[in-house]
Amino acid sequence: MDLSNCRAVVTGGASGLGAATAAHFRDLGAQVTVLDRDPAGAEGAAAIGAHYAVTDVTDEASVTAALDHAVARMGGIDVCVNCAGVVVGEKTLGRDGPHRLDSFRRTIEVNLIGSFNVLRLAAERMAANGRAQNGVIVNTASIAAFDGQKGQAAYAASKAAIAGMTLPLARDLAGQGIRVCAIAPGIFGTPMLKGLPAEVQDSLAAEVTFPKRLGDPTEFARTCAFIVQNDYLNGETIRVDGALRMR
Ligand SMILES: NC(=O)c1ccc[n+]([C@@H]2O[C@H](COP(=O)([O-])OP(=O)(O)OC[C@H]3O[C@@H](n4cnc5c(N)ncnc54)[C@H](O)[C@@H]3O)[C@@H](O)[C@H]2O)c1
Repeated sequence: MDLSNCRAVVTGGASGLGAATAAHFRDLGAQVTVLDRDPAGAEGAAAIGAHYAVTDVTDEASVTAALDHAVARMGGIDVCVNCAGVVVGEKTLGRDGPHRLDSFRRTIEVNLIGSFNVLRLAAERMAANGRAQNGVIVNTASIAAFDGQKGQAAYAASKAAIAGMTLPLARDLAGQGIRVCAIAPGIFGTPMLKGLPAEVQDSLAAEVTFPKRLGDPTEFARTCAFIVQNDYLNGETIRVDGALRMR
């Protein structure tokens, strides 16, 4: 699919990987609508010439309104990138007792159900494009989907489910001319990680096989663009991690 003519929605686009993707897509000529729960993201979106809709990805009415807004502004939707997500670190049985059920549930709710909520409603709008190839969906997993660490039961479960649904989604949506892939990033230098002390960032970077550094969000964004542009990529989860294998 030619990105320069695309109309893309990017969730979580107020920050980090989503913001880098929205900016890269704009650089390549795509129209972009950013969907994020953070109202403060509107300014950054305006600065790159993207539309913005304050959205809670877990809420059906909120996502419906946001996608309707995107269609009204851009004339349709061809690409949906799901980057909205949250991270928790909590052991199954820790010093303070068992894992909180509400934090486990919330992680699944945002990372998994939120992504599914957006993509199912975006797919409905893509199908209306009426072409041989109607759209591309890119979800964000994590290498924690495959080698989650201590304290990552909730996060890893949410991301393993993203990877696990990639193939059935591709099969479900093939008849509508929609491709579905996921990206499993390693450790990227987003605001979330940049907030950690420098020595923690350095020790994380030292675990990466090569190159020994955090991933740059633009490297994630370029992988999204590659997936959109390569029509034969479908049903696959791509690791982008400098060969990091977490222990
Ligand atoms: N940064 C990394 O190293 C890394 C590694 C692997 C996977 N990921 C995944 O990549 C995605 C983006 O991560 P990031 O590092 O850019 O994080 P980030 O915190 O910088 O950005 C996440 C964005 O999601 C938004 N968001 C959260 N909950 C939302 C909701 N309910 N509705 C709408 N928007 C919501 C936030 O407002 C924020 O703008 C996440 O799914 C994360 O799990 C990140």
